[in-house]
Parts: sequence; C-alpha cells; structure tokens
Amino acid sequence: MDKIKVIGGQVLNGKIYISGSKNSAVSLIPAAILSDKVVIEKVPRISDVNSLMEILQYLNVDLKFDGDSLYIDSTNMVNKDITTEYSTKLRASYYFMGALLARFKKVVISLPGGCSIGKRSFDFHLNGFEKLGATVRQEGQLYTIYADKLTGANIKLPFPSVGATVNIMLAAVFAEGKTVIENAASEPEIGNLIEFLNSAGAKIQGKDTTKLTITGVCKLSGGMVRVIPDRIEAGTYILAGVMNGKNLEICDIRPEHLKSFFDKLNEMGASFEVREDSVITNKVSHLKPVNIETAVYPGFATDLQQPITTLLLMAEGDSTLKETIYENRFQNIKYLNEMGANIEINGDTITVHGPTKLNGKVVKTSDLRAGAALILAALSANGETIITDIKHLLRGYGDLIQKLTNVGAKIWLIDE
Ligand code: EPU
Repeated sequence: MDKIKVIGGQVLNGKIYISGSKNSAVSLIPAAILSDKVVIEKVPRISDVNSLMEILQYLNVDLKFDGDSLYIDSTNMVNKDITTEYSTKLRASYYFMGALLARFKKVVISLPGGCSIGKRSFDFHLNGFEKLGATVRQEGQLYTIYADKLTGANIKLPFPSVGATVNIMLAAVFAEGKTVIENAASEPEIGNLIEFLNSAGAKIQGKDTTKLTITGVCKLSGGMVRVIPDRIEAGTYILAGVMNGKNLEICDIRPEHLKSFFDKLNEMGASFEVREDSVITNKVSHLKPVNIETAVYPGFATDLQQPITTLLLMAEGDSTLKETIYENRFQNIKYLNEMGANIEINGDTITVHGPTKLNGKVVKTSDLRAGAALILAALSANGETIITDIKHLLRGYGDLIQKLTNVGAKIWLIDE
C-alpha cells in the first residue's frame, strides 16, 4: 500500500481531532533514556515514532503502548552502535547523539535520514558537543562521539536550529556546572521537551525564550509529559477546511501556536473562527493573494509553506512565497503545475498566479509536507488523483485516511 486515491470536490464537514506533535514526540522518545521509567502521553501513531521505538528496542529498552500513552523503561538499556539500518529511517535518530552521550559518555551512530529538502547539516550539534568537552570522530558515514567528562559551557548557535538546541540540551543535562545556549530555538516542541526533562529532575530555565540555561544534575528519575498538539497537522487540516469545509472543526489544538499562520489566513479573507482549543472552518468564494516569508518560530513555519501553497492557488491574483529555512522545499510545485497550477520558481521564492482550477492526475510525494500539499490539492481537484510514494506522508500524518474519511472525503489507500 504505497498509493492514495482521492476523488476531489467533496464538502468536508464534521470534526478532525489533532494528534500529538511529531516533532515533539521524536525528541521526547530519545530523551526518555536519560531517566529510568517514563510515561509519554498522546504519542502520535506515525512511522517516525515506530522507527524510534525500533532503535530503543535494539538498545534493550522496554516499551509498552497503552492507548496513546507510551511507557518507556530504560533500566536495562545497553549502548550499541546505531547503524544505517536504524539511523537513516528518520532525521530525529540523531537525537540519540545527545542522549547517549549524556547517559554513556559515548555514542557511535550513522548519518540520519529525513526529508530531502536541503543541505540539513548538523555541524552546530557537533560543535556544541565539542564545547561540552566531547571528541567527535567521523569515518565515512559513521560518527563516534565520546568524552571522559562533560562540562557546562557557553554555546552561541549561529542560527536558532531546532535540532541543535535539542541535541545540545540533551547532552548538557548531566554535564558538570552550567550550560548556556544562546540564540536557541524557541519552538513550542522545545518547550515540551524542557517540561518533560524538568519533570524528571533536570534543571533547565528559559522555556519559550532564546536563551536556555541548563544546570547539570547527577541523575533523572521518572518523568511524565503530554505531547503538545501537532501545530503542522492542525494547520494542514485547517487549510483543507478553508478550501473545502462546511463547518469543519479542527479540534484539540493550541491556537496560540498558529498565530502567524492565522494572520496570513486573515489577510487572505479566509473564513475561520478560532475557539479555545479548536477552529471552525468554512470555504469562501473569494480569497485575496498574499506574500509569505518563512521564519523561525513565532514566524510563519516552513513546515506549512508547502501546504499553504495549495490554498494560494485559489487566491485572485499573484501571491509570493519565500522559503528562508531550506534550499529545496519546492518539490511539490512540479506536480501542482501538472494538475493545472501556474507557479514559477525563482531561487528561494515562488510566485503563484491565481486563481487556477486543478484536475486530478498521478502525482508523487517527494517529502512529507509536499505530500500534504498534494493531498490538499487532490481534495479540491476535479476528478481522481493518485498520489504515489506516500511513505513520506505516513511519517508525519497519523490516521490520515480515517480522519479525512470521517469528514466526508473520498480517499483510500490502494495497492494497484
Ligand atoms: N542547520 C545548519 N547546521 C546545523 C543545524 C541546522 O546549517 O547544525 C540549518 C539547516 O540546514 C536548515 C536550518 O538550519 O537550513 C534549520 O534547521 P533546524 O536545525 O532548525 O531544523 P531541524 O531540526 O533539522 C526541525 C524539524 C523540521 C522543521 C525545522 C524547522 C524535527 C525532527 N524536524 O528540523 O520539521 O522544518 O525544525 O522548524 O523536529 C517536518 O516536520 O516536515 C520538518 C522538516
């Protein structure tokens, strides 16, 4: 089953419940090995989570799912080399660098995987480990990172990288003394991780700010956290609602995490009503064009850039969208144009000439959010769309088919 078939043009009505955040869960699960027995609630059922669970099982960590709560017991954990077989399935496998370095003072791990959307180097992570006193050796795809002792340090990131902030924070939890991370990422997913680590006894200050202070502790014990709602999944379904909804309610969200996104929807004249933890969406007949530039949080999220491109197709006039985080995050454009869109790419900026109508076609998912953009296109297109290579989509959208079928979409997994 690696294809999705959609018959477009259906009105979406009812409720979609948002799952726990992928990008929170994928840092919380590796972080769990810094403690002994941990409970993580509202874990999304996505393949990235399964890939991390495989790594934990390989390291002899006990795991149990009860509903959507994941119980992780790493009392009998062993440190083993994480080879390409495990590391390349997802980006977040590299959070085992910081976590294993903290726990065992040594990690041997191959290059991570993840979406091919740009260079995605992790030099800031490695420089951070070195500042804490670790040695980093690279042989081909294999990294060995080790230390006799980790000592707190002042680390100023050249860019507020989410991954580097997480990895350095994990490595610093047991380091002697104080670590200060300046120009840290302040995405809500990082706040969720801090909440968890502090619940197990870590001392991390500066949640939701760009300066984190980690005072090393000797041990963590226990720890419980609820994964925050996935703001990108929420944004994706809100887009489905403003394109095709009739009182489509997107539930269990944190509206404060979507402010920049809502600002752009308002500017376009989209119809949506923000409630305490949900948004009610409706299709409108006229939308205005806008100019969007992606930025780190609280700016417009790069992860919603490809999904919102599909909405821009309906605006009456030319919209522009500048991608500032990744070099190669326009792989959805080729397929949208094949479906009838008129989008030009100029370096880091696209111009969307709207409005255009879409026709169903056979299209291919190149990366996770490109897949989301194509699902949105397929839901609005005339006729049948077949989306291939959906493994990318399944990495980040749990129960996608069920959630959309429940609200009236005609969407199936197919074998042909
Ligand atoms: N960068 C470097 N060196 C580094 C680290 C980052 O040059 O050492 C550059 C990257 O190449 C990129 C930019 O900095 O151009 C931003 O990278 P960042 O480290 O912030 O991103 P990430 O940690 O790799 C996470 C999410 C992404 C999301 C970005 C930005 C996870 C597992 N991934 O990636 O999510 O786009 O933050 O918000 O948390 C997705 O969910 O579709 C996704 C790609």
